[in-house]
Amino acid sequence: MSPNPKTYAVKSFGCQMNVYDGDRMAELLAAQGMTAADANEADVVVLNTCHIREKATEKVYSDIGRLRKDGRKPMIAVAGCVAQAEGEEIVRRAKVDVVVGPQAYHNLPDLLAKAARGEAALDTDMPVLSKFGHLPARRRVPPSAFLTVQEGCDKFCTYCVVPYTRGAEVSRAFAAIVDEAEALVDAGAKELTLLGQNVNAWEDGDGRGLDSLIRALDRIPGLQRIRYTTSHPNDMTEGLIDAHRDVGKLMPYLHLPVQSGSSRILKAMNRSHTRDSYLRVLDKVREARPDIALSGDFIVGFPGETEADFAETLSLVDEIGYAQAYSFKYSPRPGTPAATMPDQIAPEVMDERLQRLQAALNRDQEAFNLATVGKRCSVLIERKGKLPGQMLGKSPWLQSVHLMTEAAIGDVVEVEVVSGGPNSLAGAAS
Ligand code: 5AD
Ligand code: SF4
Repeated sequence: MSPNPKTYAVKSFGCQMNVYDGDRMAELLAAQGMTAADANEADVVVLNTCHIREKATEKVYSDIGRLRKDGRKPMIAVAGCVAQAEGEEIVRRAKVDVVVGPQAYHNLPDLLAKAARGEAALDTDMPVLSKFGHLPARRRVPPSAFLTVQEGCDKFCTYCVVPYTRGAEVSRAFAAIVDEAEALVDAGAKELTLLGQNVNAWEDGDGRGLDSLIRALDRIPGLQRIRYTTSHPNDMTEGLIDAHRDVGKLMPYLHLPVQSGSSRILKAMNRSHTRDSYLRVLDKVREARPDIALSGDFIVGFPGETEADFAETLSLVDEIGYAQAYSFKYSPRPGTPAATMPDQIAPEVMDERLQRLQAALNRDQEAFNLATVGKRCSVLIERKGKLPGQMLGKSPWLQSVHLMTEAAIGDVVEVEVVSGGPNSLAGAAS
């Protein structure tokens, strides 16, 4: 172990909130005078982990093994949700130097110093949002930046570890968020994605909801696009739906996980919405913003899911026509109610259902992409493409668009969509 580390690498897994946290940890280490390096060479490697599915957890242990290959001994810090859920266990099993949970990572420099002195360095406390006040100011940011506004979850879906790893729902203060948004825009952000495990449950003490926050951010000069993720169907308020109609900077895209099309399974999942109430929410959203691109999350093979339940998921997909979606095999998580439910589904049944679901979702994604061909839209340029003169960016509907242009990273250009495929569009600057 290096007693005086000079270089760092942060590897984030899982959701966008982890990407945000990972960036902030990198900023903390840079503020200590350390420089970024490749994970295979850095003195300190932070693994910012995800606990949502079994595979994600196992990946942490194989990554630790890989980092120690060829006798290398970097300081290893395990952060994120696996750290929160399995703190002591990781220290025992993998002998890492530092374990730090998602609410405590502002203490990372202190913990590294402790570890360098040979002291135990484990911090999985959950103080309410104190970390935000202890993080350095934002410096270089990409044109599309994340901004965490809410953390935690009170919903307790029966399959999910989030309420245990990220704790109860907490909203950051209105003024702190607006300040950070302004700082991000000053540092070069053109688009902000507001993040939260249940971002649309954001509220301040005065009863204002996410729509008030979006309307306040809409007034920041220089900010061109606003997005938010991830939402719960039951927190789609009238105000938020109205914002999709009224706020020009709010992009026409909504990620609204449904998990299953069967109301019987939704009840067993403790989702507190039904197939019909979910469809009614989407009707209202589409009425407010007819061109909205819809996205969702699905779990196949939840305990007790019959072929008839699964057929309802497929019919829901047909009815909605998602622009894009994520789908997963159910993974039993220790400590969650579903892990001990009867009628766990055989892996081969899950595999087969996932294949059928993904075929339907891919078909709809390609159809959505093809339906944008011939349209004109704005594209936020995010990076260079593979070919000389080619740039890559995002459409308002979050599709990747490549085009030949002299525009620079961070520019918003008007484009005509000339062709579309399963995963991206080609545009011509106009
Ligand atoms: N097994 C499979 N998928 C899960 N998700 C959450 N918990 C589990 C689990 N135990 C999925 C849900 C959620 C997304 C972030 O991950 O679809 O919306
Ligand atoms: Fe997990 Fe459900 Fe909360 Fe989403 S709403 S984080 S799936 S418990």
